[in-house]
Amino acid sequence: MKIEIKRLERKDAEIFVNIVERAYNYDDRNALHTIFQVNMDTQEDGCLAISLDGKYVATGCFFVYGYLAWIGFVGVLPEYQRKGIGTMLFRHILEELNSRNVRIIRLDASFKGYGLYKKFGFVDEYPSVTYEFQKIPYPKGKVCILQTLTPEIIDLDSQGFGEKRIKALEAWIKRGGKILATNEGYALLKMKSVGPLIAKDLEEAEILLSHALNMGARRIIVPHSNFRAVRLISKLGGVERNRTMRMRLGGKIKENIPCIYGILSLAKG
Ligand SMILES: CC(C)(COP(=O)(O)OP(=O)(O)OC[C@H]1O[C@@H](n2cnc3c(N)ncnc32)[C@H](O)[C@@H]1OP(=O)(O)O)[C@@H](O)C(=O)NCCC(=O)NCCS
Repeated sequence: MKIEIKRLERKDAEIFVNIVERAYNYDDRNALHTIFQVNMDTQEDGCLAISLDGKYVATGCFFVYGYLAWIGFVGVLPEYQRKGIGTMLFRHILEELNSRNVRIIRLDASFKGYGLYKKFGFVDEYPSVTYEFQKIPYPKGKVCILQTLTPEIIDLDSQGFGEKRIKALEAWIKRGGKILATNEGYALLKMKSVGPLIAKDLEEAEILLSHALNMGARRIIVPHSNFRAVRLISKLGGVERNRTMRMRLGGKIKENIPCIYGILSLAKG
């Protein structure tokens, strides 16, 4: 059998979409096409796929932010799982990140991926939990809506997240993402989800979240070690829909968890 690893280009979107759609049971192909373009904008050479005798069966992406990298969209077609293909692809990504001098690698592990990452030495950090909202609260306070990133927002984001990830944020803004800003907080609204949501305190977070929900957001992914964020989501009626485990390989990153009410996404941090 001929096994090949291909680096995906923009024109290869269908390969990515076909695999992720089935591996993750994700039924919105348009959203996956947008996500693939955002992946390419963030890390042009970061998405790989494995083919067996010319048939594409697995994909996986990485995103490098300075000394830190995130891995996401690791997926194998259901009928090809449990044959060692996920392990092969993941090992290849780790070797590539190693050769790029990345010191810390993080990811959000699904139940199915958890064992694979443990095998490579990844350790648990905290659960990242997706919540959905049906009831929309009355908007509190005031926010500004921006179409571009400002230096203040870039600072807020990198202080919360622990590194700069401007390309990832800009990629969403280019595709209709909106920035909501308060004095010392900001949120990105994209494809019915809000995140990152970074705020200095609970009050600013509630202002940003209540406005994002009124502007169409229905989902947020919360780092569960921020207890204030968990309380806020429960107060606003968020219902848990999915739970993953944030894991890392390498040292602990200097993120500011008490300020992070919503993460960017499960693949990009
Ligand atoms: C997670 C995922 C990528 C793993 O891919 P995979 O190709 O099945 O992974 P592997 O085959 O390398 O390893 C999976 C298991 O099969 C076992 N295995 C590997 N080769 C095998 C073989 N020839 N026969 C039997 N079992 C085998 C491995 O030991 C491993 O067992 P473990 O889970 O008990 O440790 C895949 O299950 C998937 O796409 N899931 C849906 C999407 C998802 O959740 N992705 C992860 C997001 S973080």
